[in-house]
Amino acid sequence: MGQKPHHKARPSRTAWGAALCRLIEQQEPPSTRLFTDPVVANLLDPMTVTLAAGPLRELYLTELGSGTYGAQVLRTRYIDDVVTGMVEGGTSQVVILGAGFDTRAYRLPVLAAASVLELDLQATQQVKVERLGGVPVLAVGLELIATDFTSEPLGTVLDDAGLDRTRPVLFVWEGVTQYLPEAAVRATLACIGASAPGSAVVFTYVRRGVIDGSAWDEGQRPLMDASEPWIFGLSPRELPGFLDAYGLTLVDDVGSAELRTRYAEPLGRHLELRDVEHVALAVVRGVRPAQSCDA
Ligand SMILES: C[S@@+](CC[C@H](N)C(=O)[O-])C[C@H]1O[C@@H](n2cnc3c(N)ncnc32)[C@H](O)[C@@H]1O
Repeated sequence: MGQKPHHKARPSRTAWGAALCRLIEQQEPPSTRLFTDPVVANLLDPMTVTLAAGPLRELYLTELGSGTYGAQVLRTRYIDDVVTGMVEGGTSQVVILGAGFDTRAYRLPVLAAASVLELDLQATQQVKVERLGGVPVLAVGLELIATDFTSEPLGTVLDDAGLDRTRPVLFVWEGVTQYLPEAAVRATLACIGASAPGSAVVFTYVRRGVIDGSAWDEGQRPLMDASEPWIFGLSPRELPGFLDAYGLTLVDDVGSAELRTRYAEPLGRHLELRDVEHVALAVVRGVRPAQSCDA
């Protein structure tokens, strides 16, 4: 793919953007809200919180937002449901890759039955630690581990963090793959695929045609931060084979129309969406030995 991932010295702007969307969602009445996040406002500076009730909401919810808002809040809801279902089903280890300002460990009651590891670049984690200090954690345990997926072996990082790789793990990888070089995406999948049978990964990916421009009119581009360019994408057609090579079986692959049907329409919500990003769920078949991670 050629391009380098973004530089790491400052907190992620895209993590801020995702958190902002989740904050704006809290302005919906409880009956039509996709999820409740009582913590997200702590993560954003007071000026952003003020503007989120006015101009920023306008920007994200109207045509100018190019579907960014709908994509972010619907994928969060989908992933919340997967986390809840998997933990209720007995998975007690959750690893959040590129967690940014993810607040699940603080807001999903089901995580009282699971430990959570959050991995991200150091600068973003530092802000999170500073702003969420004192906020009660619902998860059994929460550990933040600073790492760079492009340069540090994920298997070693997870082993050092005490992850029990003989037991199932749910990996959450929300809004991250598009920022990584293909080699880092593959290395991460290699590690996930070497997890215990019963493990799973829920993740998002951007359609390849959006990355190479073939599926996109310039005027319709989604909101992007130039400092964190999108460099990786996949076509839905190639996804099953791409995952299969790492011992992963695709069980769900949901685009914008389906997200709208599953979550927005039953609530009577109209959310602008473009066919940019998918959210997918894959399960680990258990055919790859743990040592093949980082190999
Ligand atoms: C769009 S944000 C998504 C954050 C969060 N998962 C969410 O959905 O709110 C992308 C996240 O990926 C992290 N990230 C990007 N490149 C990374 C890398 N090479 N290593 C570790 N984290 C990375 C960023 O720091 C950022 O927090």
